[in-house]
Amino acid sequence: MDLGLNGAVALVTGAKGNIGQAVCSALRAEGVQVIATDMAVGAPEAGLEWHKLDVTNEQDWQRVIAAVRAKYGRLDILVNNAGIAPTDRIDTMPLADFRRAFDINVAGVFLGTQVASALLAESGTKREGGSAIINIASGAADKPAAFNACYCATKAAVSMFTRATALEFSTLGMPVRVNAVHPGAVASDMMDSIVARYVELTGRNKDELKAAINTGHPMGRMVEPAEVADAVVFLASRAARYTHAGALHVDGGQANT
Ligand SMILES: NC(=O)c1ccc[n+]([C@@H]2O[C@H](COP(=O)([O-])OP(=O)(O)OC[C@H]3O[C@@H](n4cnc5c(N)ncnc54)[C@H](O)[C@@H]3O)[C@@H](O)[C@H]2O)c1
Repeated sequence: MDLGLNGAVALVTGAKGNIGQAVCSALRAEGVQVIATDMAVGAPEAGLEWHKLDVTNEQDWQRVIAAVRAKYGRLDILVNNAGIAPTDRIDTMPLADFRRAFDINVAGVFLGTQVASALLAESGTKREGGSAIINIASGAADKPAAFNACYCATKAAVSMFTRATALEFSTLGMPVRVNAVHPGAVASDMMDSIVARYVELTGRNKDELKAAINTGHPMGRMVEPAEVADAVVFLASRAARYTHAGALHVDGGQANT
């Protein structure tokens, strides 16, 4: 199948993290020019250029999108991936931590969508199926978890923001498809931190907890970052040209448990 991605230009936020790195690699493997962004830059490679972009900072977004427009004249794919996962008790969680999570996980997606939308729409007129925004939500958008009320709420917000944006863009005649990926628990540094914090908060045994997370996925294990990245590639591609306002679960069946 021709994914139609060769020569496309993509911007990925949170590109230094486990999922972000996998997304950048998977897109590059399809011939996409990747603009990797994070709180600090990494080493440039063929097909991969870095920009510092704090997703909560409107000026950062404007500077980076202007640079992409000046250099490439197009943006075909935006992957809103940056996120944090505070794990805490509601009765002791600082309000500042709660607000910070909404700022990064939700306002960051809003800002990226807002600032990039004109360039995405222009580029979308030149591609079958238009250009694509892919938001990395989470299974936490659909299934509540103790000590993750804030994180779950941010991801539920991302899920609804994704679907409402998709309808709005179509209503405005903008050729930009908007979809979300909902990964289950991903084998990653973020998941290691969540597990460590759960152990602190509950006194549960770490290995038992990890085993329970694995078996919580009907297919028997956590998700690999590359499996999330493959879903992103699909949603960005010509193969998903009529997939819009969707939520693609990459979780070994977990959302149905
Ligand atoms: N790891 C999981 O189990 C899992 C499961 C479902 C969804 N997700 C989501 O996937 C995304 C990536 O997660 P990950 O596992 O790769 O986490 P990660 O912690 O490895 O990576 C997150 C990246 O986001 C960056 N970041 C944080 N704040 C930022 C900001 N203000 N501006 C720009 N970048 C910022 C970090 O520097 C980091 O590189 C997140 O949105 C996360 O919520 C993760």
